[in-house]
Amino acid sequence: MSTCVIVPAAGSGTRLGHTEPKAFVQVDGRTLLAHSLDAIITSGVATTIVVAAPEVFVSLAEAEVAEVRRRFAGGAGSGKGRVPPEAIEIIVVQGGADRVESVEAALAAAGDPDTVLVHDAARALTPPSVFDRVTAAVSSGAEAVVPVLPMIDTVRRAEESPRWIPLDNDADVEPVPPGEQPDSPGEQPDSPREYPDTPREQPADVEVLRGDLDRGSLRRVQTPQGFAAETLRRAHASYRAEVRTLGEAARAATDDAGLVERLGVDVVAVPGDEESLKITYPLDLVLAEHIARERGRSHPDSV
Ligand code: CTP
Ligand code: MG
Repeated sequence: MSTCVIVPAAGSGTRLGHTEPKAFVQVDGRTLLAHSLDAIITSGVATTIVVAAPEVFVSLAEAEVAEVRRRFAGGAGSGKGRVPPEAIEIIVVQGGADRVESVEAALAAAGDPDTVLVHDAARALTPPSVFDRVTAAVSSGAEAVVPVLPMIDTVRRAEESPRWIPLDNDADVEPVPPGEQPDSPGEQPDSPREYPDTPREQPADVEVLRGDLDRGSLRRVQTPQGFAAETLRRAHASYRAEVRTLGEAARAATDDAGLVERLGVDVVAVPGDEESLKITYPLDLVLAEHIARERGRSHPDSV
């Protein structure tokens, strides 16, 4: 059984707001990419790893790969799984304009594995055990596997709804006398209404919450997501064909499991891990820094 782990690392990290792309931002003195590679190598599930890096960062990503290899060769960490660190082939390719394109670029360089795992560099601290669980589920016959956690927050669906709202901080505006209130929401005009004197209200899109979602049946989906390689290739080919036929409007903000699900394939869940948080905003980095330092304290010899 050969397994390729694809690492999409070609995003810019706009929401994190650093100058360097997110995969090259450091946590506890090492890049998110290096931490991700540590976890994958330690899990011992990968025969090949393909990193998709931003265009001008390909050689920097290769330098990170070399650094991680040196650490494992120097005994800083050891592979706990069936594939020893030195036997893993690690390739860096140039990523694409969005995450799907980055995965496609990596898939093209993946050779012919039986299983493909896709793991975001943004989830740099995913414990190796999650890679084990996902790989085991694919090995036992599931075509698509995702690690999940339960929902914590109450989740509701929001809809944009046009409303008339008072103008902000307009001290000159008299209160609107009863009987002169603007039309009720059901009678709103499509375009802004003309007021004879000073306008007291303005049209705005307001979010209105509609309907409770049953939190008990919702899951937060993480990576690595694991697939029978042929299924993942088919899902990407079908998505590509859809975008070609229907145009850019068919582009979807979805992950690999979402693309596979469109084929009618069942996506199976295994337990995820809170430490597998997706580093998106500056606050996530604070938490990641804390987790990485704590790990360093409790296992000073591990990578
Ligand atoms: N990714 C990628 N290629 C892209 C865009 C994203 O490989 N063109 C990767 C990111 O590097 C990241 C993962 O997909 O590891 C998840 O994306 P996200 O967390 O959104 O990262 P960014 O796109 O970098 O962040 P932002 O959306 O804030 O710019
Ligand atoms: Mg993004």
